[in-house]
Amino acid sequence: MTLSVDQARTLMHEWVESPSLRNHMECVACCTRAYAERIAPEAADRWEIAGLLHDMDYERHPTVEEHPFVAVELLKSRGDVAEEIVQAILAHADYSGEPRETPLARHLFACDELAGFIVACSRVIPEGIRDLQLKSVRKKLKNKKFAAAVNRDDIRVGAEQIGLDPDVHIQNCIDALVADRERLGL
Ligand SMILES: [Fe+2]
Ligand SMILES: [Fe+2]
Repeated sequence: MTLSVDQARTLMHEWVESPSLRNHMECVACCTRAYAERIAPEAADRWEIAGLLHDMDYERHPTVEEHPFVAVELLKSRGDVAEEIVQAILAHADYSGEPRETPLARHLFACDELAGFIVACSRVIPEGIRDLQLKSVRKKLKNKKFAAAVNRDDIRVGAEQIGLDPDVHIQNCIDALVADRERLGL
C-alpha cells in the first residue's frame, strides 16, 4: 500500500500543530499538484504529498542539522512513501546538498518559497488572493523589507530550474492558489 493524500495530511497534522505551518504546506501542495496536473497527471497525488510533508518535521526539529533529515528518515522507514517523494523533500533544503534531479524535486523547490511569498502578498490586500496581481507580487519582491525572510534568490533559481520565466511561474502559482482559495483560507 502506498500512502494516500489523506493519510499524508493526517501524518502532517500529527507532527505539526501550527496553523500557519500547516497552511504553508497545504499551499505548496496546491501549487505542486497544479503543476503535476499539467505535466505529470498520473503523479498528481505524489506531487501533492511531497508538498504536504516537506516541512512536517520543522516544528519539532527546525535546525539545519535536523530539518528535513528527521522527516526523510521517518518517511524512508515507513516503506509506503515513494522514493521520489523522499528525495524531493531532502532536496528542497539547499544545504542538504541533494541534487534536484526529478521534475518533482525541482517543482517542490520552486513552489516552496514562492507560495509563502504569494500568501504574504495576499494577506495585505483586503480582498485577499482573488485580487492579487502579478505586478504587485513583482513590486513586493523588489522591496527587500517586505516578507524579508523569503529568499528572493530561491524564487529566481526555482523558476530557472523548472524552465519558466519567473513571471509565468508566479502567475501559475497565483492561479493555483486562487482556484483553491476557500479551502486554503486565502
Ligand atoms: Fe523546509
Ligand atoms: Fe516550506
